[in-house]
Amino acid sequence: MKIQDIQNEVVREVVSEQDIDNKLGEIAKLIEKDYEGKDLLLVGVLKGAVMCMADLSRHLSRHLEMDWMAVSTYGHGTTSTGVVRILKDLDTDIENRHVLIVEDILDSGLTLSWLKNNLSTRGPASVEIFTLLRKPDALKIHVEPKYVGFDIPNEFVIGYGLDYAEKYRNLRSIATLHPDVYTQKS
Ligand code: XMP
Ligand code: MG
Repeated sequence: MKIQDIQNEVVREVVSEQDIDNKLGEIAKLIEKDYEGKDLLLVGVLKGAVMCMADLSRHLSRHLEMDWMAVSTYGHGTTSTGVVRILKDLDTDIENRHVLIVEDILDSGLTLSWLKNNLSTRGPASVEIFTLLRKPDALKIHVEPKYVGFDIPNEFVIGYGLDYAEKYRNLRSIATLHPDVYTQKS
């Protein structure tokens, strides 16, 4: 789905499809260099990171493995509850593995800080974070991602994996939603 398909639901495009693709290509080159000679396990955070995982991994010209975790911090609204719960754990034993967490967005930092600490207790060789988006003004906990795609303003965004009430994940770019959508009953 493109912005044009939902023009009256969107206020503005924040990151275009082309800019996402270019950035993932650049970051893939850095990852190839940083992890040269090391095995690499990408851990995607469901469901938002599905698109990032699919596209970042295909930019990587090397072998890697993928695993997935599902955690919950958000309900159906647009503000974080601060509660992190594991809905689906890894299938892989990460002891002595180089783990790169793949996340769609770093907002307050609660999710990624918690996740990095949790994975660190499992004896990995390393745990680092890739996040496509970061909202610097929303950060409540210090989290240092190794790779950041784009710093964006502190507004609720949808698209490219990010949802509002489970919709808009299939939007190809990233956009801000019209406030009418929040108040509509569906
Ligand atoms: P925290 O606050 O823990 O949030 O850094 C990370 C998780 O919150 C969700 N999130 C968003 N989802 N648009 C969304 O669709 C947003 O603007 C947004 N900000 C945070 C997201 O699931 C992320 O994993
Ligand atoms: Mg969400």
